[in-house]
Amino acid sequence: SVDLSTFTRQTGHTALDYGFVNTAATKSAITYIDGDQGILRYRGYPIEQLAKNSTYLEVAWLLIYGELPTADELAAFDDRIRHHTLLHEDLKRFFSALPHTAHPMSVLSSAVSALSTYYENESDPNNPEHVELNTIRMLAKLPVIAAYAHKKSIGQAFLYPDNTLGFVDNFLKLNFGVLSEIYEVDPVMSRALERLLILHEDHEQNASTSTVRLVGSTGANQFSSISAGINALYGPLHGGANEAVLDMLGRIRDSGESVQRFVERVKNKEDGVKLMGFGHRVYKNYDPRAKLVKESADEVLEALGVSDPLLDLAKQLEEIALNDDYFRERRLYPNVDFYTGVIYKAMGFPTRMFTVLFAIGRLPGWLAQWREAASDPQTKIGRPQQLYIGAGERNYPGV
Ligand code: ACO
Repeated sequence: SVDLSTFTRQTGHTALDYGFVNTAATKSAITYIDGDQGILRYRGYPIEQLAKNSTYLEVAWLLIYGELPTADELAAFDDRIRHHTLLHEDLKRFFSALPHTAHPMSVLSSAVSALSTYYENESDPNNPEHVELNTIRMLAKLPVIAAYAHKKSIGQAFLYPDNTLGFVDNFLKLNFGVLSEIYEVDPVMSRALERLLILHEDHEQNASTSTVRLVGSTGANQFSSISAGINALYGPLHGGANEAVLDMLGRIRDSGESVQRFVERVKNKEDGVKLMGFGHRVYKNYDPRAKLVKESADEVLEALGVSDPLLDLAKQLEEIALNDDYFRERRLYPNVDFYTGVIYKAMGFPTRMFTVLFAIGRLPGWLAQWREAASDPQTKIGRPQQLYIGAGERNYPGV
């Protein structure tokens, strides 16, 4: 590897690297990926072990503080988060100003941005106590905002968080509970959602995390940086792919087009159609997260008593693509988003909530990466170079 900033300073050369395919913007000790081997580790721990044995908050602690928490540390962390779940009543009214047709991702990023207005005097990125407090606030409040975005889209009343419940159970109740009715959390659904959230918690310098770091490099606080990250995640080539996969499967089913014919259209790049949920910038082998999601898809649907023809369609699509030279030559495999949508749908989440679930999953990674950048003395304001290809100097008419 070459330290390009030193190289550029010394030689005056600038490297042109569309999409930053070859350029590292930072050093990081958080997540390790080997895209050829299909390896993903958080702080050295294999994702497979964490997904099986850990919890969302335990992994959040690991990402943020670098080591697994002791039982006491985890209990105190959980307790603190539970005590910060409430939203200011004025912020709840903010949701009424938005149309009920609003996409929940837009609602989420706007509300997180608005959250910063409540804590302006406690949001100094250079004050460790503020950083700590806002880490807790973000972890506690993002799921509540997400659930309210959902409730708003279906016209139901917001519930107050139930702080007797753990992180995931509380989130499920906020989404699926109804005022004046008792809501029993389904442990199968809770564990399945927790596993999916763990799989999304970090993924090194992807587009949304890079956005969080870039915005943070200007000295912006956590709320502003993470709101920007949510907007970056919204795009269909990034987090929005989980929603796009389900739309794609639904369109294939409804059009009556054969899966084979759809794959042919993808290969011919007809109307720019892509196989959503396939391909990854880093993984050129099976995405290890996709392997885990696929393994649990059948299990979860069966346990929830749901049978979904879209799951069969997805498997058929994968089978055809994996045996096709177009996809093999380009090393295109299912990514984490290919099967998640089918599971979220079985849990009862509307399609437009899928990317919001991704955002809740990714939040600990964003927080950890923001903090790592903020505490790294080598961090500078992010400012890519360009190669100018426009007009040379010319005179304004009449001058
Ligand atoms: N379907 C069909 N062809 C594809 C796909 C796909 N999903 N992905 C890549 N290709 C093709 C490209 O057309 C290109 O072909 P060409 O060489 O004939 O022009 C080749 O594979 C290389 O693709 P690039 O676009 O250069 O790959 P890149 O690394 O820039 O893009 C990306 C990665 C954005 C994920 C891409 O694979 C894609 O658009 N996938 C679908 C969207 C998706 O699932 N996104 C989620 C990513 S994972 C995440 O954010 C959690």
